[in-house]
Amino acid sequence: MVTDLRGETAADVASQIDGHSLEVDVTDSAAVDAAVAATIARCGGLDIMINNAGIAPPFNQERFQRTVTNEILRMSGDLSSMEPLEVLSTMSNEDWDQMIRVHLYGVFYGCRAALRHFQPRRSGVIVNISSVLGLRPSSAAPHYSVAKAGIIALTKSVAEEVAPFGIRVNAVCPGWVDTPLLSDFDEQARQIIRNRVPMGRLATAEELAELVRFLSGPESSYCTGEVHSAGGGYA
Ligand SMILES: NC(=O)c1ccc[n+]([C@@H]2O[C@H](COP(=O)([O-])OP(=O)(O)OC[C@H]3O[C@@H](n4cnc5c(N)ncnc54)[C@H](O)[C@@H]3O)[C@@H](O)[C@H]2O)c1
Repeated sequence: MVTDLRGETAADVASQIDGHSLEVDVTDSAAVDAAVAATIARCGGLDIMINNAGIAPPFNQERFQRTVTNEILRMSGDLSSMEPLEVLSTMSNEDWDQMIRVHLYGVFYGCRAALRHFQPRRSGVIVNISSVLGLRPSSAAPHYSVAKAGIIALTKSVAEEVAPFGIRVNAVCPGWVDTPLLSDFDEQARQIIRNRVPMGRLATAEELAELVRFLSGPESSYCTGEVHSAGGGYA
């Protein structure tokens, strides 16, 4: 069962894997509960829950240029000429809330709905998608970093609770992955990312999917409450 805020996106992925799809907003707890119920009704059960929905702060070209200029000034030791980036001081309540809602509340609702089904059966697997920024917060995206760090804490907390009952819960921390999430990053921004990553490139979605598949299957039977990074050497 593939779900997404955009029904056509979910349907497109489902058609590639001969699956089913549903339009679901993960910030709506009743919708997440209903999606799990619909999955069980249509597929005969739920074995694996991947909590993957996410958003990124819009790319801000002007702030990005200031970051680049500041870095050059920092390297020359001229901190007094650096301009404040004003990321947190200009952030609206709405932007903060939305970032926390989609990531942290979305994963909470997803874990809760899955556990209500997994616990009586004493089996099940949950994979929560965090980020390397949850391990190494970014000054450019404090709300995203906080939400992703929260997902790591939630994963460890829930994993400890349900481990005796045959349920595994793990987190994946991708580095930069070449997906539509980064579609508004221009070539200069991508090059700066490549410079930061020891492997010198972005990941492909397939490389992350392999890790999620490993954590979803019997090969990872002794892994729970763990944080698995795939950051090309970053974090
Ligand atoms: N791409 C990266 O560089 C990167 C790095 C680290 C972590 N991640 C994380 O990986 C996950 C997948 O991201 P991606 O890179 O495939 O991006 P993506 O934009 O391709 O996919 C994210 C999907 O989440 C959906 N979504 C957004 N808000 C939603 C909501 N409220 N309810 C349901 N669906 C919603 C979007 O419609 C989109 O299809 C996200 O959690 C993201 O934070 C991505």
